[in-house]
Amino acid sequence: MKPLLRDAMDNGYAVAAFNLVDYNTTKAMVKAAEELNAPVICQTSSKTIKYFSHKEIVSWVRTVAEDSPVPVVLHLDHCHDIAMIEECAKAGWTSIMIDASELPFEQNLEQSLKVREIAEKYGVGMEAELGQIMGVEDDMVVDEADSVLTDPEDAKRFCDALDLSAFACAVGTAHGYYKGEPVVDFDRIQAINTLTKTPMALHGGTGLSDETFAKAIARGAAKVNISTNLKHVWVKSFVDYHLAKPTDFEPLRVGDAQYQACKAMFHGFIEKFGGKDRGSAFVAKLG
Ligand code: 13P
Repeated sequence: MKPLLRDAMDNGYAVAAFNLVDYNTTKAMVKAAEELNAPVICQTSSKTIKYFSHKEIVSWVRTVAEDSPVPVVLHLDHCHDIAMIEECAKAGWTSIMIDASELPFEQNLEQSLKVREIAEKYGVGMEAELGQIMGVEDDMVVDEADSVLTDPEDAKRFCDALDLSAFACAVGTAHGYYKGEPVVDFDRIQAINTLTKTPMALHGGTGLSDETFAKAIARGAAKVNISTNLKHVWVKSFVDYHLAKPTDFEPLRVGDAQYQACKAMFHGFIEKFGGKDRGSAFVAKLG
């Protein structure tokens, strides 16, 4: 995760990070990345891990990624539970996230430093969050009134202490669909990036415009998270198939319709974030 996001930040592109929901979506995101010769981040929310298991998820990602020519990261998205974070690092996740952003600065940093030790112990990447991103993620709700945009000076202190692969911060985006036009603070993204020199994870990717993505990526967003959009395509492609072919009860054809729809969506985002043709170039740089 760390060298990959550095490469993205230094070269003005972002790596797409999708919250997988099952084996088929995992396979579709890696396939889409391969078709575009792009890196990709398969990420999991805690509730997905609780529903399946560490073992199942690692086996899916290994199956689709181990012979893949493109870089694939298995990342843990927003996690509040340090024991679970360590279990993921032990089980095969190549990057972990601590989200202690609801705590005051010092306590957030203290928790994040504990996870820093875990990341070092297992040799995996790490993301941590400062400021509070609006919306619902993994059943945690942050109202507009409670959301706090990240202060650039605090961000510097936080990042200097943690040496992160990715820094999650609140810059005006929100998890879930936007009710109105999102007000993204591009100057804040720039200020945070200038001070922290750390690749930024842009959360709340669903519903942002192409222009917003381009401006955020140009200012240091090196990882862009997409979750809600995938959930909608996953359900809608199933329903649409059944409505179009109400007498077809062959699960493999219905599943394939979902797979193709999700893959097309992944393609769109990977290209939009500038990931196309970055995969083999990055692998060559790693040596
Ligand atoms: P969306 O659900 O808005 O795409 O946000 C995803 C995200 O940021 C996951 O952490």
